[in-house]
Amino acid sequence: MTDDGAPRENIVLVGFMGSGKSSIGRSIAKKLGFQFVDTDYIIQERSGRSISEIFQASGEEAFRVLETRALESLRHLKRCVVATGGGAVLREENRAILRHLGFVVCLTASEEVTLQRVSRNTKRPLLQTENPRETLRSMLASRQESYATVAQFTLDTTLLTQPEAADLVVLEARKAFSWHRPE
Ligand code: S3P
Repeated sequence: MTDDGAPRENIVLVGFMGSGKSSIGRSIAKKLGFQFVDTDYIIQERSGRSISEIFQASGEEAFRVLETRALESLRHLKRCVVATGGGAVLREENRAILRHLGFVVCLTASEEVTLQRVSRNTKRPLLQTENPRETLRSMLASRQESYATVAQFTLDTTLLTQPEAADLVVLEARKAFSWHRPE
């Protein structure tokens, strides 16, 4: 809620790497005329380093501190679509900020599709292992509960095009925010 008690009407996307948060988030923002915000982008802009450089030079814990700071700086947002990094749900303090921000949607995809999507780039330090499939499985298993506790709506994007997924999220957001006006 804002200071005047009105809902913030942000749509917050959480989910594993490769679930489509950034691409689908951009489509949603375009559709609604909302601003698109990406926490990984904020972290990189503020630190002047890429995510991989941060992990390499300072480690995951240092990255998580920057991630929490980036989320804290978004508390004032209204009518934005926020894409978060896959591990943003891990800290309880982050989950509280995500809930405060607005309607939290978890995007998922099958293991196969996730692997296909993440193999297209090497920008994800946590999946640069000898066996990305095994890494993905164990990370997903350990994160599942955090995604489930924070999300108000979960959408499996495996068989959906980007516009289809965006439409479904918008439909749910309309219900959540009790928007009755036509598109
Ligand atoms: C991470 C996901 C990445 C990025 C960082 C850590 C994670 O974001 O924040 O590499 O812990 O799952 P994407 O989910 O956008 O790839």
